[in-house]
Amino acid sequence: MSRRSIKSISSDVDISGIFRRYSELSFPIDSGILFDCGRPIELEIGSGKGRFLRRISDEILDRNFIGTEVSLKYARYAASRLLNRSCGNAVVICCDAARLLEEWIPDNFLYGVHVYFPDPWWKRSHRKRRILRAEVLQLIERRLISDGILHFRTDVEEYYQSTLELISQHALSLDIFDVNVSENLPEDESDYNTNFERRTILNGEKVYRAKFKKKPIFQ
Ligand SMILES: C[S@@+](CC[C@H](N)C(=O)[O-])C[C@H]1O[C@@H](n2cnc3c(N)ncnc32)[C@H](O)[C@@H]1O
Repeated sequence: MSRRSIKSISSDVDISGIFRRYSELSFPIDSGILFDCGRPIELEIGSGKGRFLRRISDEILDRNFIGTEVSLKYARYAASRLLNRSCGNAVVICCDAARLLEEWIPDNFLYGVHVYFPDPWWKRSHRKRRILRAEVLQLIERRLISDGILHFRTDVEEYYQSTLELISQHALSLDIFDVNVSENLPEDESDYNTNFERRTILNGEKVYRAKFKKKPIFQ
């Protein structure tokens, strides 16, 4: 699916409280600097226009949410959707999520990871650029807490099947527990999870969904 252009967020709009560049992060992660108070943290990879981040952070007030987006224009746009909220439980970081997972997030830390409609990199020779490649899946597995959940949705059947296969080969503690393929129309416009999900469903195409739970670690 091709991408529509978005308008740039004017530099007059103050998103400083909810937007960070990778180079501005303090190491190690300090949630006291990012959020108004400490709560369990969930991460979204590839927030795009930020529809999911806005919705989930309005709905679930006892969690903090970090949206990651590699495109500066989209990251600023997603952050602007978080303006004018009373709860400071969501931020957008403009970065490569794989690098953030590798360098900034500790093991057994994230309560959830959300990956919705990741770029498909169609050509076989480009598939190594996919965000859900073996080494990133292993990082996600390590960074999740026991019982933490990886949520994955795509409109690309081949990406879906190959991710299930990669997880079963390389991320053995991630158990699949909710699989669902559908083209159901949500009852309400606000029920669409992300912008790509909305477009997929309105085009009459299928959405492939899966959730994986990290098995508890017994020592
Ligand atoms: C196809 S769009 C989907 C956006 C959104 N999740 C949705 O469903 O509407 C994929 C998004 O992931 C972003 N992205 C791609 N690689 C990324 C990476 N390594 N780290 C963070 N974001 C990434 C892209 O810039 C793009 O905004």
